[in-house]
Amino acid sequence: MIAIPAVCLCVSLVLLLTIIILYKLWWNPRHIQSMMQSQGIKGPSYNFFHENTKEIIKIKNQTSSNAPMDFSDHDIFSRVQPHLYSWMKSYGNNVLVWNGTQPEVVVTEPELIKEILVNRNGAYPKTKREGFLKKLVGDGIVAAEGNKWLKLRKLANHAFHGDCLKDMVPAMIASVGTMLEKWRHYEGKEIEVCGDFKILSSQVISRTAFGSSYVEGIKIFDMLEKMAGLILRNAHKMKFLGLVRTKDETEADKIEQILHESIMGIVRKRRDEVMTGRADSFGSDFLGSLLKAHHEGDEKNQISADEIIDECKTFYFAGQLTTYSLLSWSMLFLAIHTDWQEKARNEVLELFGRDNPNSEGIARLKTVNMIIYETLRLYSPVILITRRTQGKVKLGKFKFPANVDLAIPPLALHRNPDIWGQDAHLFKPERFAEGLAKATKGNPTAFIAFGFGPRTCVGLNFASYEGKIALSMILQRYKFTLSPNYVHSPFAALTVQPRHGVQILLQPL
Ligand code: HEM
Repeated sequence: MIAIPAVCLCVSLVLLLTIIILYKLWWNPRHIQSMMQSQGIKGPSYNFFHENTKEIIKIKNQTSSNAPMDFSDHDIFSRVQPHLYSWMKSYGNNVLVWNGTQPEVVVTEPELIKEILVNRNGAYPKTKREGFLKKLVGDGIVAAEGNKWLKLRKLANHAFHGDCLKDMVPAMIASVGTMLEKWRHYEGKEIEVCGDFKILSSQVISRTAFGSSYVEGIKIFDMLEKMAGLILRNAHKMKFLGLVRTKDETEADKIEQILHESIMGIVRKRRDEVMTGRADSFGSDFLGSLLKAHHEGDEKNQISADEIIDECKTFYFAGQLTTYSLLSWSMLFLAIHTDWQEKARNEVLELFGRDNPNSEGIARLKTVNMIIYETLRLYSPVILITRRTQGKVKLGKFKFPANVDLAIPPLALHRNPDIWGQDAHLFKPERFAEGLAKATKGNPTAFIAFGFGPRTCVGLNFASYEGKIALSMILQRYKFTLSPNYVHSPFAALTVQPRHGVQILLQPL
C-alpha cells in the first residue's frame, strides 16, 4: 500500500529532473539562439556536446597559429584569437558563442562597449569567475562588485597613485639597475630580453607593493605561472558537466594551497614586525595598507584575511605579466624602428642626461609615451575584457536576457580601420602625438588596452612609470638592433607574449 506513492514520487522526481535538464541543455539555448538571431546576432551553432570547442580547435589548426610570421606584420588579432577573427568575418561585428550552455556575445562596436564598461546602474557586472581562474585571482578586486569593490579599489588607488607612486621610483630604478648590470656581459653580443623583463617586473612589484625581494616572492610567481599554465591547457577542454574531477583540478588545489601559505608567510612576517615592536607601523606600501585595513576598527572599511590573500595574488600576478609583455614588445619595436629608437634616446638624454630618471622628467617623456601607447595598441597584453548582463538589458538597439556573458577583445578594436586608418596594422607612434583623445578621434573605447570606465586598470600609472624608467635607462646606455635569430610568433598565454623571446644585438653607446 505504501509502495505506490513512493513509486509515484520517484517517477515525478525523474520527470522533473528530465524537464530541468531538457530546459537547461536544449530549450533555453535554442530560445536564446533564436532571440539573438532575430536581432541579427549570429554565430557558430549551439552544440551541447562540443560547446564551441571543436570549432575553435579546427580554426586554430587551420590558421597554423604556431608558425612564424613576418616580423613587420603586426596584425596579430587573426593570429592570437583566430576563432574570433574568423567568426567576425563570417557573422559580423557582434557574435554569439557558446561556452557549454552559457551564451557569450563577442562585442566589438565602440558605442556598445562604452555602454557596457561605463556600467550605469550596475547593469553589466563582472563575469563570474570559476575553476582555475577563480583560484588565480580569487574574489579580490578583479571579481568584486558593490561595496566590497569600492573598499578594495580605494585601497589600491591610494597605493598606486600620486605620492605613493613617486616614492616607488627609487625601487624601480634599482631593479632596472640590477638587470642592466647583467646586460654588461652581453655588450657587443646577442641577448634575449624577455626572460630579464619577466624577472624585472616581478622584482618591481615585489619591492614596491610588498616590500620584499624577488627571491622571497619567487615561489609565488612560480605557482602563479603554473596556475596560468593550467588555465591555458584547459581553456578549450570539454567539461562533461563537471562530474569528473581531473588531474589538473587536483593540481590546481595543491597550487592554491602553496600560494596561500607563501603569501601568508610574507603577510605574517610584516605583521610580526609590528607585534614584536621591531616596526612601529605596517608600512605605507600596498601590503601595509592591506594590513592596516585588516586591523581597522571601523567594520565598514575592514578587510578579511582571505581578502588580503586574494589582493596579494591579484597584484603579484597583474603587476608582473602585463608590464613584462609591454616591455618585450616595446623592445622589439625599438630594435626594428631604429629611427624611433634614436628619437626616444634624444628625448631621454635631453631630459635626464646620464642621470637616473626622476618623476618630473618621467611625466615629460612624450616620445617614449607615444611608443608605449602604440605598442599597447598593436600588442594589447589583455586580450579579453568580460562582463555579463545582470538582468534584462537594452544595449544599443539590442535586447539581451539576464546572464549573458559579454566578451570584448581589445585587439579587434585596435585594428578598426574606421578609427585607425587602413594602415592600422603598422607601427606609427605619431598617431599619439596629440594625445589619446585625438588619436582615437573622440571614440574613447577605440583604445582599451587599460580598459575603460570605473574598472579601468588601477595599475595604469604604475605600469607606465615602470615602462618609462626601464626604456629610459636602456636607451641611456645602449643602441640595439633585432638579431637575425628572432622568430616572430606572438601567442596568448593570458597576455600576449613572444613565443620564442626577443633577441637583440646590444651595442654600448
Ligand atoms: C601594461 C600594463 C597593463 C595593462 C595593459 C593592463 C590592463 C588592464 C585592463 C584591460 C584592465 C581592465 C579589465 C576589465 O575591465 O575587466 C585592468 C584592470 C586591472 N589591472 Fe591592469 N594592466 C596593466 C598593468 C597592471 C599593473 C602593473 C597592475 C598592478 C600593479 C594592474 C592591476 C590591475 C587591477 C587590480 C585591475 C582590476 C581593477 C578593477 O577591477 O577595479 N594592472 N588592467
